[in-house]
Amino acid sequence: MDYTAVEQELRRELARTAPGTPAMTRAVEILKARVPDYTWVGIYQLFGNELVLGPFLGKPSPHTHIPVGRGICGAAAADKETIVVDDVNEDSRYLACSIETRSEIVVPIMRGCDVLGEIDIDSDRRAAFGEDDRRMLEALASVLSEKWTAA
Ligand code: SME
Repeated sequence: MDYTAVEQELRRELARTAPGTPAMTRAVEILKARVPDYTWVGIYQLFGNELVLGPFLGKPSPHTHIPVGRGICGAAAADKETIVVDDVNEDSRYLACSIETRSEIVVPIMRGCDVLGEIDIDSDRRAAFGEDDRRMLEALASVLSEKWTAA
């Protein structure tokens, strides 16, 4: 996996994509197409105290609305920090989306101290997310923050 190439593609594509939903949709498409381990890729937007699912690729999730503080997604929004879970079956916070999911990464999209939303990725492989994934996705979160529009 050439993470640098994927990050460059994300930067290049998002630079010429309209802000808001088109930018989020394009980012999800690129990640899903380029990284075989990314089984489910989605972006949540924070409205008030609730994360609402926006563009995603993968099986439909029952968790389209997640209060801050609930699940791994809600924990990342509350902590304002990336969370990596190597084995979701060993994390009591986990809200199940698919029986096959083994690991998850959630990266908040921040503007200053405010959470705008987050990138959420599931993998069917245990411990699929390492430092390279975190670095690339945190860089993407910062690009998406620039492309964010008020809903
Ligand atoms: N697993 C997440 C819920 C969202 S689904 O993975 C799409 C969580 O625990 O917050």
